[in-house]
Amino acid sequence: MKSIVVTEFVKDLSLLHVTTHPSPTPPLAVNCVTIAIKSAALNYVDILYSRGQHQNNTSLVKPPFTLGLEFSGVVTSSPPFCPWPPGTAVFGESLGSFSTHLVLPFGPELFSSLHKVPPGWTWGQAASIPATMTVAYGALVLRGELKEGETVLVHGAAGGLGVMAVQIALAKGAGRVYATARGARKGEVVKGLERLREEYKGRVKVFDTAKEGKWWETILQETGGKGVDVVFDGVGMVDQSLKSLAHRGRVLVVGFAGRDAGSMEAVKMNRVLLKQAVLIGYRYGESSRRYPGEKEQIWRELWPLIEEGKIRPVVYDEVYKGLESVPRALKDLEERKVWGKAVVTVDNDQDMPKVKAARL
Ligand SMILES: NC(=O)c1ccc[n+]([C@@H]2O[C@H](COP(=O)([O-])OP(=O)(O)OC[C@H]3O[C@@H](n4cnc5c(N)ncnc54)[C@H](OP(=O)(O)O)[C@@H]3O)[C@@H](O)[C@H]2O)c1
Repeated sequence: MKSIVVTEFVKDLSLLHVTTHPSPTPPLAVNCVTIAIKSAALNYVDILYSRGQHQNNTSLVKPPFTLGLEFSGVVTSSPPFCPWPPGTAVFGESLGSFSTHLVLPFGPELFSSLHKVPPGWTWGQAASIPATMTVAYGALVLRGELKEGETVLVHGAAGGLGVMAVQIALAKGAGRVYATARGARKGEVVKGLERLREEYKGRVKVFDTAKEGKWWETILQETGGKGVDVVFDGVGMVDQSLKSLAHRGRVLVVGFAGRDAGSMEAVKMNRVLLKQAVLIGYRYGESSRRYPGEKEQIWRELWPLIEEGKIRPVVYDEVYKGLESVPRALKDLEERKVWGKAVVTVDNDQDMPKVKAARL
C-alpha cells in the first residue's frame, strides 16, 4: 500500500511524499473494517497538521502519522454481521486518508464515522463531506442554535466549511445569508448555491472583500440597522464582524484560515460588551471525543437534508490524480485557488461497484 506519512513536520509542503508499505493482511480484518480508498478530500487542517501548527499536534497527532482526514472507498474486509460487508461503497472521516488503504477498528464510534455512499454520488462527492458538512452543521445548529428567519454572515464562504455553512443556513430557514469571498469565481460559486432550490433564490448576498471595503455598513443598511444574528467565522474576522452583529448576536469562532500561526486576531472587547455579543468556540473533533452523541445527532439531522437535496457536495473542478498530487493540491489550497472541496483520486478506477449503495 501507498501513503503520505508525516515522519517529521515540514515547512515546505512539497517535502511531503508518497511511501510504500506492506498492505493490510487478513488477520487485521477480524475486528477491523479495511477500505480500499478511491478518493480523499483535502482540508485546511491537513496543511496545519503537516507543519505541526494544529492544536492536536501537541497531543493527538504526532509524527509519524498518515495525513488526510476524509475518504471514500470500497470495503475489502469487515467482521461478520457488520453493516458494511465487503464490496460496500462507503465514505467517512479518519486520520490517514491519504493512503491506498485504511484499517478502522470496528466499534460503536465507527457507526457515526463511516457511512454508505448515497446512490448516484461520485467517489469525489462522497469524500468531500464527512469532516466538513458536519463541522458547519455542528457549529451553526448545535452550538449556534440557528433559528428560522435569522440572518447569518459566513466568512470564507467559498471554502470547504463555507460552502456548507451557507447551504446549511439556507436549509435551516435563514432569512438572509451574507457571505464573504474574494474574487469573482468564488463569488459565483457562493451565489450559485441559491440555484440548488427555488426557495433559496435571492437569499444570498456575497461581498468580495478584496474589493468592497466596508461591507458591514451594507449589512447594517440592509437589516435596518439591526445587523446579523449569527456569524460563522473560519477565517479570523471576529472584530470586523462585531460591527455588523445584532445586539446579543452570536459569533461562531470555527477557524483562523486568514491568520498566520502565532498571530491570532485581537478583538476589541468593548465591542463585545456594547453589543452583548456571544462568542462561541466550536471544535468538532474535540466535541466528538467529549460528547460522542453530538456526532450521531449531527448525522441524524443531516441525512434528511441531504436526501431532500437541500445540501449538496461542492467539489472543486481541478482533478488531482494520485496521492503524488497531494502536495500540489495542498499548495493550491493554501494559495486560495481552491473553492469548495479539492479531491484527490487515489484510485484511477472511479467506477462505482455494482452493489446497491444506500444510506445506513
Ligand atoms: N473548529 C473546527 O472544528 C474546524 C474543523 C475544520 C476546519 N477548521 C478550520 O476552519 C478554517 C477553514 O477551514 P476550511 O477547510 O474551510 O478551509 P478552506 O477550504 O481553505 O477555506 C478557507 C477560506 O478562508 C479564506 N481565507 C482568507 N484568508 C486566507 C488565507 N490567508 N489562507 C487561506 N484561506 C484564507 C479563503 O477564502 P477567500 O479566498 O475567499 O478569502 C478560503 O476559501 C481553517 O482554519 C480550519 O483549520 C475548524
